[in-house]
Amino acid sequence: MKPEEIERMRDEALAAFAAAGDLDALQAAKVAHTGGTSPLALANREIGALPPQAKAEAGKRIGQARGAVSKALAARQVELEAERDARVLVEEAVDVTLPYDRVPAGARHPLTTMMERVADVFVSMGYEIAEGPEVEAEWFNFDALNFVPDHPARQTQDTFFVQGTREDGKPTVDDESGIVLRTHTSPVQARALLGRELPVYIVCPGRVYRTDELDATHTPVFHQIELLAIDEGLTMSDLKGTLDHMVKALFGSDMKTRLRPNYFPFTEPSAEMDMLCYVCRGESVGNADKPCRTCSSEGWIELGGCGMVNPRVLTACGVDPEKYSGFAFGFGIERMLMFRHNVEDMRDMVEGDVRFTRPFGMEI
Ligand code: DAH
Repeated sequence: MKPEEIERMRDEALAAFAAAGDLDALQAAKVAHTGGTSPLALANREIGALPPQAKAEAGKRIGQARGAVSKALAARQVELEAERDARVLVEEAVDVTLPYDRVPAGARHPLTTMMERVADVFVSMGYEIAEGPEVEAEWFNFDALNFVPDHPARQTQDTFFVQGTREDGKPTVDDESGIVLRTHTSPVQARALLGRELPVYIVCPGRVYRTDELDATHTPVFHQIELLAIDEGLTMSDLKGTLDHMVKALFGSDMKTRLRPNYFPFTEPSAEMDMLCYVCRGESVGNADKPCRTCSSEGWIELGGCGMVNPRVLTACGVDPEKYSGFAFGFGIERMLMFRHNVEDMRDMVEGDVRFTRPFGMEI
């Protein structure tokens, strides 16, 4: 139990702690140099056998050595913990500039959102959503709606025929009606009247087709929303009030509509419906300083067609025109999106480029 030996034990312990490069190594060094079988612990145990004088001296030396060892251990522990914490911070840092591999969540197309917004206005008034096929019987698309076979209006709709009719209007296949891609959502009027109990209050948003070339203002596939209300005692003022409510709900409480006489075979009287220009609210009219591109300074934007349902349509669909009357209207969603959001080219709506859809937000 020489003093040099105790110093050596102490120094070996201190050297082992200093050499420990991480907390695991320090733990091993701690067991080796301070544990129950460490040299200093064994030496401490031997003190008891020494004569009193030597016992006191050895006790003091070993006590001092053990004190120095546990101090050094604690200091190294603090050092290594600090090192570990600093390393963890660096290793676990997230580089927010790294590219990520997640596919962005999809969003609905602005046309869909627009269509649903319009439909919601009517659903909140108690209307139901109705649907019909896009590949439609010619009878529903035209005949039921009072387009007679040689009616010039049939040509104005630029129809895609899936299964045609002959020149004389007779079907090419047996007795069946021709089949077309529906040119408007109006055939859903006839389907609703034939398939539902009266009164009928429906809206039908959907896709329609016409043989147009795709350009800035035309697309062969586009969307319309159709409305039909058939009940006892409905009049043109109900139509006007409904249109006014719709444009107020969609475009603001200062909005208005106006009706201009027009012709559609399935409504009588028929009208073209305009709404106050969404952009200038009519203020550009006669105001050369403030021209409006959206309405060409006319103050009004044409929205679509409407009217009182022609009694012939009611009769064709088994509804008694003496008892029931009603109104209908239909308009294009693309056009509405164009003037509501300043979209200048319809092709942007069909090309699927997310740079077009993103500014509309990510409504899912
Ligand atoms: N179906 C017509 C079109 O596509 C629009 C239309 C006009 C719908 C008058 C209607 C209506 O319901 O009453 O041009």
